Amino acid sequence: MSAIQSLSTKPLKVAVLVSGSGSNLQVLIDAMTSGSLPIEIVGVISNVKEAYAVTRAEQAGIATAVFSHITEGENAGKRMGIKTFERHASAQLTEWQPDLIVLAGFMRVLSADFISAAPAPMINLHPSLLPKYKGLDTHARVLESDDIHHGCSVHVVTAELDAGQVLAQALLAIKPEETAEALQARVQKLEHQILPWTILLIAQGVLDLENLPSHENANCLPALPYQLWLDS
Ligand code: GAR
Repeated sequence: MSAIQSLSTKPLKVAVLVSGSGSNLQVLIDAMTSGSLPIEIVGVISNVKEAYAVTRAEQAGIATAVFSHITEGENAGKRMGIKTFERHASAQLTEWQPDLIVLAGFMRVLSADFISAAPAPMINLHPSLLPKYKGLDTHARVLESDDIHHGCSVHVVTAELDAGQVLAQALLAIKPEETAEALQARVQKLEHQILPWTILLIAQGVLDLENLPSHENANCLPALPYQLWLDS
């Protein structure tokens, strides 16, 4: 075994939270299955029953848990409060015991209590070059600005929305007359590259989420983020 291979002796146990189509989840499933990413996806939690991400997980034989934000039965149509979702999600994560929790298109805002009590560090994929355009509608908002670049970020999840330390970013040049839909599609291609690479750095211990380099901590690698120009 080479020195580099020996960095990762056992797969990193990853839980993924989703709300939508799950194209990023699929990239992780494919990379896990092919052996190119040393992870084991121990389970997928969705807050949307019909999310295609759930189908993708089931097709790959991965455990799933759906805690729908829309209730059925006698309270049909009533929104499940975030605290109730978090109680269910917390119990499920405790059972799965992941090393890392990945928010890949998860569209609810989690509370500070849930984040601090989570059984593993949490990272989020966000479709903008943070700290710009936190929150929703990032593609439409960047097109209304004078910005010439856009992209996506992988960052540590903290209590403040989309504000934790950025680990990696991929960027592209906005094209003249580009629509929000076209831009979103190009950014998603970048997401499919930056997310697995960031998780690889975590799995190999290059990125230690409990001891991240910073400008104050100059004895280790330079401060993040890694910024990749991945124009597509
Ligand atoms: C991704 O583009 C991700 O950046 C975005 O949701 C999409 C999910 O796509 N996440 C957020 O907006 C989080 N605030 P996918 O379901 O096909 O992976």
